[in-house]
Amino acid sequence: MAFNKRVKIKTILEQGLIGSEITLMGWVRTKRSNKNVSFIAMNDGSIITNYQVVADPNFISDDVLKKCTTGACLKITGTVVESQGAGQSSELNAKSIEVLGEADPEKYPLQPKKHSLEFLREIAHLRMRTNTFGAVFRVRHALAFAVHQYFNDKGFFYIHTPIITASDAEGAGETFKVTTLDIGNPPKTEDGKVDFKQDFFEREANLTVSGQLEGELAAMALSEIYTFGPTFRAENSNTTRHLAEFWMIEPEMAFYDAEDNADLAEDFLKYLIRYALDHCQEDLQFLESRLLDEEKSKPQDQRSEMSLLEKLNFVVDNEFVRISYTEAIDILRNSNPNKKKKFQYLIESWGADLQSEHERYLVEKHFKKPVILTDYPKEIKSFYMRQNEDGKTVAAMDILFPGIGEIVGGSQREERLDVLLQRMDEMNIPKEEMWWFLDTRRFGATPHAGFGLGFERMVQFVTGMGNIRDVIAFPRTPGNAEF
Ligand code: 4AD
Ligand code: MG
Repeated sequence: MAFNKRVKIKTILEQGLIGSEITLMGWVRTKRSNKNVSFIAMNDGSIITNYQVVADPNFISDDVLKKCTTGACLKITGTVVESQGAGQSSELNAKSIEVLGEADPEKYPLQPKKHSLEFLREIAHLRMRTNTFGAVFRVRHALAFAVHQYFNDKGFFYIHTPIITASDAEGAGETFKVTTLDIGNPPKTEDGKVDFKQDFFEREANLTVSGQLEGELAAMALSEIYTFGPTFRAENSNTTRHLAEFWMIEPEMAFYDAEDNADLAEDFLKYLIRYALDHCQEDLQFLESRLLDEEKSKPQDQRSEMSLLEKLNFVVDNEFVRISYTEAIDILRNSNPNKKKKFQYLIESWGADLQSEHERYLVEKHFKKPVILTDYPKEIKSFYMRQNEDGKTVAAMDILFPGIGEIVGGSQREERLDVLLQRMDEMNIPKEEMWWFLDTRRFGATPHAGFGLGFERMVQFVTGMGNIRDVIAFPRTPGNAEF
């Protein structure tokens, strides 16, 4: 038998296989023994459920059994039999056990008990072996797969936009530099500045903050495209919603206006949630019970009104609220926390940037539904957004989710060359370097629109995980690039 002719636990549970001789490989979660027999709970990551192996000392030597400790990796051959105990329908009667990798119980940090998420973050190289992180990463996979399924079914093309670029698409100046220059002793120009002409790309380069600008170029040829790639932002935000390296999905569509854009975004988000509900039941049920446990330690008034599954179903079953920034400002200005000065940033006048406290008030307290906020003041949004007739606002769209705040940011794009050029001047966006972007407005321009979904924020919403560091395998945040 080839080494990898193993049967996954998921397959055993789905197919029954009573009476078959199989080989199981995986990691020991727990072992309990009495005089006559040992029970080993195995997990191989294929499914959240552990599978019980029964080891009879008549077949398995004491020496081997001693090494079957929590965390050890085993190859077990035996027969699937109906289970005597409650909780699972079958179990494996071991005929032979090979210890593939021992795990010294004195040193192995993951013990079969509850560990805090903070502690698990310090051992991120092992945390995927816990129920919680196994569930999170299986759901994350399902959502990534669903992204491709959704767009492929709709005839969108997946474009791989560059990771190294010379532009700062969002114009926020929060880029990580990419250079091969000796930073201790860089070559200088005559006026004493770093001479990037001598750098690898013969110019300044950085990691991308968004694939949008290149996505727009592709949409001007293939009509409907999407990107799904890593995104890097050097913003010093130590919050539960920000990563320095995150994944973003950015569809970009020719012949779409702002309303088409919002329709697509709402349909897409609902599709992803429905996909997870249909394909990740066991994991979501586990994550829901985990959250209910966590809630018990909170004061009554801070507990959420809905369980995880109720919340996911609620979002799928209800229309998102669509309101303009101007309407939102009115609601916020007259809200209790604003009048009682409970907001950290009080909303005084039109034009104020919305903070996450305001976004969450709208979604969690006022509407109790996801909200699509549109038509923001042009001053607080990016240069590429299409100006509205009023001359004050742009066709921007942010989607706000309960517990998360902003999950999507997008807009109809400014396709009119003269308006775009003027806006770039006003916002000090260098035009010369962006000649290729402007060319799409010179040659065959058309109304178009797009948006960006922060993938980790979506995974957070679906799994109910409170901290974004717990939905990406190896989080990158200020001061943290371990693993
Ligand atoms: O609103 P943002 O900055 O929009 C863009 O980048 C546009 N170019 C998108 C487009 O129109 N094609 O970012 C989009 C989303 C946010 O709504 C948020 O969900 C997520 O990306 N995001 C982050 N996620 C984790 N960590 C960060 N530091 C994030 N910054 C943005
Ligand atoms: Mg945004």
